[in-house]
Amino acid sequence: MKVEQLSPRGFNEQEFIKTPYIDDITERALTYIKAGFPVNFSGPAGTGKTTLALYLASKIGRPVVLLHGSSEINSSNLIGGNYGYRRKYKLDNYIHSVQEVEESLYYQWVEGILGNACRNGMVLVYDEFTRSRPEVNNLLLSVLEEKILSLPGWQKEKHYLRVHPDFRAVFTSNPEEYAGVHRAQVALIDRMINLEMGQYDRHTEIAITSAKSGLSEDEAAFIVDLVRNFRKKCGLESNVSVRSSIRIAAIIHSAGEKACLKNNGEFFGKIITDVLFSEIRDAEPEKRQLAVKIIKEIIAQ
Ligand SMILES: Nc1ncnc2c1ncn2[C@@H]1O[C@H](COP(=O)(O)OP(=O)(O)OP(=O)(O)O)[C@@H](O)[C@H]1O
Ligand SMILES: [Mg+2]
Repeated sequence: MKVEQLSPRGFNEQEFIKTPYIDDITERALTYIKAGFPVNFSGPAGTGKTTLALYLASKIGRPVVLLHGSSEINSSNLIGGNYGYRRKYKLDNYIHSVQEVEESLYYQWVEGILGNACRNGMVLVYDEFTRSRPEVNNLLLSVLEEKILSLPGWQKEKHYLRVHPDFRAVFTSNPEEYAGVHRAQVALIDRMINLEMGQYDRHTEIAITSAKSGLSEDEAAFIVDLVRNFRKKCGLESNVSVRSSIRIAAIIHSAGEKACLKNNGEFFGKIITDVLFSEIRDAEPEKRQLAVKIIKEIIAQ
């Protein structure tokens, strides 16, 4: 299970690109979060869900904890569990052959990530929460609605934990048809404000591609237009995102090449082909065949 604790300023705001599209969605999300409603950024890969969730969390001004959804997560990871084992050696200083080993098994309650966040009023960013098993995520139902986290029955002193009023949660999720993604329980989704993310607009894609790769806006625009053209013609909205443009641009920049198909544009053409083919490796065979044709056309321009 991968958990990261970030400070309120753990997110590097300087690397976060703001455009009217991004400002619009983040302002709305922040309004919902401030009003106490959890937000779920849902949508295909590469549409900026995790980046937006982390940015949003950093704006709330509370410590942020990041949890990546996975089938390995269990309720002990989230709420807490009893752990402990102690082994003690006793050496005799005078007779070195005398050694006593004491082993004891003692349990100590170790709070889980959700327990910690609920108790201390942290912001929980639960990235790709639908990759965790639905029965584990059920723990969140009472946290989000009744503001109570149920503790395991054998916790004698207390059976529940009252959620700190500053606790907030931001979720992200991929479409159900993605491998390893479980269908989210209706009851859980009902407790969130769902913000459907599509691919970014052209202006945002250019700004992000240029900032992330170091290429000029003009060259980034050339790459973004090629990738958007490819995405549209192939109908592969969920495979080809700004991530593809960033990759192509970063390779070009690192190789000291130019984003240009004319005059010696062979190298650029090969990079586009390699990157785009690797993005569509999971697409249906007919779409892949179409993609091959379209890439050839684009390169031949
Ligand atoms: N506002 C932004 N500023 C800077 N970079 C951004 C921004 N939004 C997205 N990116 C970049 O675009 C890429 C895709 O974003 P991100 O990883 O957040 O997408 P995602 O929807 O979480 O994808 P996945 O479903 O695969 O996890 C990343 O390289 C990210 O750094
Ligand atoms: Mg993500």
